[in-house]
Amino acid sequence: MPIETRIHGAGRTVSQTAVDIDAEVVAVPVGSGPVAPAAEVAQSLPFTLDELLELHRAKGEPGEITATQVRLGDRMRELLLYGVGDAAPADLRKAGAALARRGRGRTALVAGVPAGDLAAFVEGALLACYEFKIGAPPHPAKKAVGTLAVLTEAGPESDAPAIELGTARARATALARDLANTPSREKDPSWLAAQAERVAADAGLTVRVRGEKELVEEGFGGLIAVGAGSSRPPRLIELSYLPDEPAERHVVLVGKGITFDSGGLSLKPNEGMKTMKTDMAGGAAVIAVMSALRGLGVRARVTGLVAAAENMPSGSSMRPSDVISHYGGTTSEVLNTDAEGRLVLADALAYADAELAPDVVVDVATLTGAAKVALGLRHAALFATDDALAAALTEAGTEAGERVWRMPLVEDYRAAIDSDVADINNIGRGGYGGGSITAALFLREFAGDRPWAHLDIAGPGRSTSDDAELTRGATGFGTRLLLTWLTG
Ligand code: BES
Ligand code: MN
Ligand code: ZN
Repeated sequence: MPIETRIHGAGRTVSQTAVDIDAEVVAVPVGSGPVAPAAEVAQSLPFTLDELLELHRAKGEPGEITATQVRLGDRMRELLLYGVGDAAPADLRKAGAALARRGRGRTALVAGVPAGDLAAFVEGALLACYEFKIGAPPHPAKKAVGTLAVLTEAGPESDAPAIELGTARARATALARDLANTPSREKDPSWLAAQAERVAADAGLTVRVRGEKELVEEGFGGLIAVGAGSSRPPRLIELSYLPDEPAERHVVLVGKGITFDSGGLSLKPNEGMKTMKTDMAGGAAVIAVMSALRGLGVRARVTGLVAAAENMPSGSSMRPSDVISHYGGTTSEVLNTDAEGRLVLADALAYADAELAPDVVVDVATLTGAAKVALGLRHAALFATDDALAAALTEAGTEAGERVWRMPLVEDYRAAIDSDVADINNIGRGGYGGGSITAALFLREFAGDRPWAHLDIAGPGRSTSDDAELTRGATGFGTRLLLTWLTG
């Protein structure tokens, strides 16, 4: 659901702004060093802010909040001292998120924000306000804060671009979360394509959607095979962004768009299946990134491909032992129908290499449980054939608060995807282990000689709890990383 909270700059003091907009909550930052320049709100308290912080053993760490109350104007208001640590971007993102959560149930909150990355603060605050619920609206006491007015030393005019940037990144991330959180009863490949068409119309993109017939005719055998068990046929979604000025390079983003992954005939147990509506989170991130390019003035030409299919068991499903012919003719032997992501991505990667002449290709996919085992829920696994690309994506991830860890494309494991009957097999056999690595090696076969990177987001694509700017369920992981990379 779109984030309803609005953030704007305020020109006057915290107290005056609180009275002007009748905010029930005012907030003052506290650093990990000495207390940040004592805000004028402290003047009306019968104790100093230092005394209050000491009483609560507050250290000014990001995420920490010490609450008291203060009379400003004609009413009592909540006064929050919120930790900002060293006011680094990650600190401000976390601080903004904590403050926004604390503002739930309130109509307006005014916050003094220290010098630093205001966009990160805004992004953190807005993303913490994200909610997805089908049914009764939230109780008023739990509803996200309506307005957040931010005050910095720089003033509202110079703050406006940072507020806009943070808002744009948060809105794109919320779109990715919405797409991934939507239940698969509603979300099938054609639904996802319709969402992409709506985004294209709103965001100044062109879109082409290939349906089943074209996919068969043009040889997208992976998409056809994976989608064969479902009554809801696959789609290849192609979104194109052309910058206003001539582009320096052409970036192709490829997203895994499995709208539900039951495992197919290699059926998953319920425990593993119940989160699989988010198996198109990579595709959601690609659509979300595309939605924000024109607003952010990205200078590269960008094409977004989403390989969308539903992986279901039925009489028409692909079977273990089937051989698929992918786009361009490479064949793969299906040894496990639950390793379906690589089968649909193979088609899209091969298509990008053969038809789109990209300077760089990056795919994003909830590809393997093994990546989740290796790196947990907060780091994506990054694989790349190009060191400079790997370094740029790693740096963008750190800056964006979506961290990645580079993993090796171990040549010795290439034998794991050999097949007796086809060019390659889809599970990595022969006891090599390294399930996320053999999956990446499979994908590499289809990227040609292009600089290529693969983000396995099986871990960070979902969160099991509300945590800083993350909300339980789909996280939109990859959206902020890729936008940061493309705007950097
Ligand atoms: N979508 C899953 C991977 C996944 C698992 C994502 C858990 C998020 C959380 C993928 O299609 C899959 O099922 N992979 C198999 C591959 C195996 C059969 C080679 C896996 O990881 O078990
Ligand atoms: Mn699967
Ligand atoms: Zn999957």
